[in-house]
Amino acid sequence: MTSVLLFSVFGYLLGSIPFGLVLARLGGYGDIRKIGSGNIGATNVLRTGNKPLAFLTLILDGGKGALAVFIANHFGSFDAAMAAGLFSILGHCFPIWLQFKGGKGVATTLGMVLALAPFTGLAACTTWLVVAVISRISSLSALIAMISMPVSAFVIYHDIKLAAVCAGVAAFVWIRHKANIQRILKGEEPKIGKKKKDA
Ligand code: G3P
Repeated sequence: MTSVLLFSVFGYLLGSIPFGLVLARLGGYGDIRKIGSGNIGATNVLRTGNKPLAFLTLILDGGKGALAVFIANHFGSFDAAMAAGLFSILGHCFPIWLQFKGGKGVATTLGMVLALAPFTGLAACTTWLVVAVISRISSLSALIAMISMPVSAFVIYHDIKLAAVCAGVAAFVWIRHKANIQRILKGEEPKIGKKKKDA
């Protein structure tokens, strides 16, 4: 129990690092929260037009979810790893450094799930890619990838607890995409890489 608590705090602090914000500043684009959707994630960093910076944001945001899981699993337990991963997502979405106003958690979720249950993570990344190629809409790709997680966790691992954790995370990420869902329904969600004025 102590290790679960300890690794949850660790996961939260790691997840709180706003890589998109830091990289966009370092890249000379100013405050990423004033660009495009205002989100601090890779999709919005891509709206600066800087693909390597967006890719690096994706890797680092995913990496912090994966690292939280790996470290907690190595030094603690599988339960501690799940807790650390979940709290890294909460850290990304509600970072202590940004008055608890953070991102939507997609990359960090994918990193966490890749580390926790690699085949489920791969299935989610593949789903994201396939939907992205077809629709060219990042948020739609993320929303469908999230649905794939509890399904594949159950089908591949036959693990109810893992499937329930994936379902919970997926529901949370859907809630974080409320504005995106409204835009998708209105046909107003921008395509990947397209710059937009508001969100
Ligand atoms: O990962 C976030 C993505 O799904 C949506 O980002 O900037 O279009 O709101 P954005």
